[in-house]
Amino acid sequence: MRFAVTMKRQPRLSPRSNKALRTVSIIGTGSYVPEKILTNADLSRMVDTSDEWITTRTGIKERRIAAKGEDTSDMAAKAARKAIEQAKISPKEIDLLLVATATPDMLFPATACFVQKKIGATNAACLDISAACAGFLFALEIAQQFITSHTHDTVLVIGAEKLTSITNWTDRNSCVLFGDGAGAAVLRHRGSAHGVISTHIGSDGQYTDILFMPGGGSRCPITRENVDMHLATIHMSGKEVYKQAVTAMLNAAKKALDQAGLSIEDIACVIPHQANLRIIEAIADRLGISSDKMFVNLDRYGNTSAAAVAIALDEANRSGRIKRGDYVLMVVFGGGLTWASTILEW
Ligand code: UT7
Repeated sequence: MRFAVTMKRQPRLSPRSNKALRTVSIIGTGSYVPEKILTNADLSRMVDTSDEWITTRTGIKERRIAAKGEDTSDMAAKAARKAIEQAKISPKEIDLLLVATATPDMLFPATACFVQKKIGATNAACLDISAACAGFLFALEIAQQFITSHTHDTVLVIGAEKLTSITNWTDRNSCVLFGDGAGAAVLRHRGSAHGVISTHIGSDGQYTDILFMPGGGSRCPITRENVDMHLATIHMSGKEVYKQAVTAMLNAAKKALDQAGLSIEDIACVIPHQANLRIIEAIADRLGISSDKMFVNLDRYGNTSAAAVAIALDEANRSGRIKRGDYVLMVVFGGGLTWASTILEW
């Protein structure tokens, strides 16, 4: 069964405060990737693959690997500090802290609580969002709703992953795809027209079996046997995921455009989930937008799941690729299935 929630900025009243709903802006972004690089050539010495196969099938050339002892929350905190610095706020002003991740430090407490301690966001309520690769845009949507309805003022949203901790390094079908990293954004009401203008999130639980990690949860707790069977690693039906990704991202992009009353010609930059260059090109083609408007960094980082669009947004921001007044479309897809799209006026 398909389930989708769609929100659009409208001049409505907040049910909690009876005040006019507020517009929400991103006032700072940050990102962090680990120093260690694993190239396609390195991988070809680990499994039966080649730089040529990985490059032509995915567009990925290299990915980053977290250092020993470097946790998801460490990377998240590093990205968060940069976003906070750019936003010119104190961590104490953050009243809600969301971490989107499929690779939390622990099943509980929330990775967001570890980040809170590391960055000194002592006044924040903290929780994790589990929506796989779509998690950062799900978190952005939640942040926007809390700010819009006056329950919170300053929200730190982070996408962070240590995917290499759940990678099956003997499975060439999947191990060449993933990497580690984190991206962050500070959201706040700013009273200007700039900001989040359209969002769409959705899920389809029919496809929980095409991209998942069977072990490590309550259904299949970790045992020596389960570990030997690689159950606590990513399991993926690549071709099926590919097919669903193109359809879901295309539909999500169209929904966000419709709600914003914009056409694809209005968009200055598309920041898509960074999973596969062929998926990105297929979406550009079907949306009717030139490929040079698609932001791509997967050649350097591979697929970092919930961190991917967060890192890309920060790079697009800091490099000047997106400029004030630009319409930016972000569109993602992940296990669940989950999908989401957001249009920002930068
Ligand atoms: O965030 C979402 C996460 N996941 C995704 O987005 C994944 C979406 N899917 C994909 O990106 C693509 O399906 C893959 C990159 C995973 C695979 O590309 P493909 O074009 O669908 O290849 P395939 O699975 O059909 O495999 C083609 C061949 C097979 O060999 P045979 O059976 O034709 O002899 C595979 O065994 O390529 C082989 N193969 C490899 N060869 C060298 C699969 N992986 C590799 C590899 N190196 N790493």
